[in-house]
Amino acid sequence: MTGPIIAPSILSADFSKLGEEVRAIDAAGADWIHLDVMDGHFVPNLTFGPGVIKALRPHSRKPFDVHLMIAPADPYLAAFAEAGADAISVHVEAGPHVHRSLQTIRALGKRAGLALNPGTPAAMVEPLIDMLDLVIVMTVNPGFGGQSFIPSTMETVARIRAMAAGRAIDIEVDGGITPETVGLAAAAGANAFVAGNAVFKGGPAGYGDRIGEIRAGAQDRMGRDGTLSC
Ligand code: DX5
Ligand code: ZN
Repeated sequence: MTGPIIAPSILSADFSKLGEEVRAIDAAGADWIHLDVMDGHFVPNLTFGPGVIKALRPHSRKPFDVHLMIAPADPYLAAFAEAGADAISVHVEAGPHVHRSLQTIRALGKRAGLALNPGTPAAMVEPLIDMLDLVIVMTVNPGFGGQSFIPSTMETVARIRAMAAGRAIDIEVDGGITPETVGLAAAAGANAFVAGNAVFKGGPAGYGDRIGEIRAGAQDRMGRDGTLSC
């Protein structure tokens, strides 16, 4: 397992200059670029689709971590792959055929991810564990940036980390991650950390410092090789 992966979410970026914002977080040390796709149906908000992701692709060589909060997802998976996604995550709550969605993502040559809402039990992951490269444990209810971290989700992270034992699966937490909360998630077993508001607030001059603070907060609770230190 690698050390902490910091994935700034451009949901909190200045949408009037997204290309510039992606270049800025890349230069500031982002490991992945997290792209939140919302459909106004699965979640009560709308963002962007594959066209915007394709337009952003030339602005960074870092992995594009595409988080689909859409239902259905299957009709759009190929478009997100073609747009330049490296990982595509679908929500387990978004439809009856999540196994098929994961098969499709892998068949498209992309890393397959499964996202779980805070009210969804870790056991939902179990039958799918060998189809996964990534699990996103939502640490807020999806739809908006800037919400407060839900501590009870740490039990879900711990259960999935135990379930993943020995497999090369990234466990990513998403929502309310700050230099203060990131340590809890790292201690529970997360190794990838989405941060929107905590990175973007205050503007580009501080992106490097804010990514560094989140990384340090995670590193404190993980071993040097990324394994848990507690
Ligand atoms: C929420 C999104 C998150 C969001 C996180 O639905 O999936 O990625 O951007 O934003 P913060 O870090 O501000 O909670
Ligand atoms: Zn997200």
